[in-house]
Amino acid sequence: MMYHNPVLLHPCIDGLIGSPSGTYVDVTFGGGGHSSLILKTLSDHGRLLAFDQDPDAMKNLPEDSRFQFVPYNFCYLKKFLQYYQAYPVDGILADLGVSSYQFDTAERGFSHRFEGQLDMRMNKGKGLTAYQVINEYPLQRLAEVFYHYGELSNARALAHQIDKARATAIQTTTDLVNAVATLPPKGKENKVLSQIFQALRIEVNNELQVLQDFLTQTVDALKPGGRLVVMSYHSLEDRLVKNFMKSGHFDGKIEKDFYGNPLTPFRLITRKAMIPDDDEIAQNPRARSAKLRIAEKK
Ligand SMILES: C[S@@+](CC[C@H](N)C(=O)[O-])C[C@H]1O[C@@H](n2cnc3c(N)ncnc32)[C@H](O)[C@@H]1O
Repeated sequence: MMYHNPVLLHPCIDGLIGSPSGTYVDVTFGGGGHSSLILKTLSDHGRLLAFDQDPDAMKNLPEDSRFQFVPYNFCYLKKFLQYYQAYPVDGILADLGVSSYQFDTAERGFSHRFEGQLDMRMNKGKGLTAYQVINEYPLQRLAEVFYHYGELSNARALAHQIDKARATAIQTTTDLVNAVATLPPKGKENKVLSQIFQALRIEVNNELQVLQDFLTQTVDALKPGGRLVVMSYHSLEDRLVKNFMKSGHFDGKIEKDFYGNPLTPFRLITRKAMIPDDDEIAQNPRARSAKLRIAEKK
């Protein structure tokens, strides 16, 4: 199985690297596709730190003295950059979400297409699982997860359906798919299942809070002129990234100084998100929902 096919590879790296002898961070190493091109682009004096909270990503580490792997959540960006005396840096890349490898490994439970345990933890082995969310959350909280993170309008009905089925325990992805089988309108089954699985994944990995913690730290972690390059795959993430790059705030409100000048930490490099072209989507269908945004620290 191929670990991961990097999305918008060249636009990401072209947008990230100003000086080949600078220090860069890839906070989502995965299969190392983006990191590999970063290392090719850097000179002997350049440096790359890469985060991934999934120990499986360590199968892909390059042998390169310019490279340092950090096996932790990127919400600890600042702490580890300081620890490795790499603070502030010249560019930070984040390619959010799960890798194809994680998605296609049935026992990780990320995909409704394969039978597996209801796990969905990116840092497998630690913390809340999708099994606990499905079987232990009170009905109201379960409905909120589906409403807020899956953007499902019938979240309450869905939570009720799961509540009935979990009396006999929903153990696997297939049990969950069967429990909700009567809910989606005909022809919308895959879309609704993807939304349900997305909501659970966001809850299990606390993805939106972690993204906000990370973005907040990038302002100080970047040198003036340093680049922030973020690729997201659903609108909840993209909205946070877009607002933050535009204003430095997650609600997108731009503060002004006494004279009315905008007080924003970044200059936008991409006014509109970049998206993969038809050729890339034909070769790599998972690229279809990618949105790439780039900003420069003022
Ligand atoms: C879309 S993949 C990145 C693929 C990579 N760009 C490549 O070319 O192979 C996302 C990776 O980021 C990791 N990841 C996601 N959220 C993370 C977080 N909060 N902290 C650390 N790693 C994270 C996942 O475990 C996964 O391996």
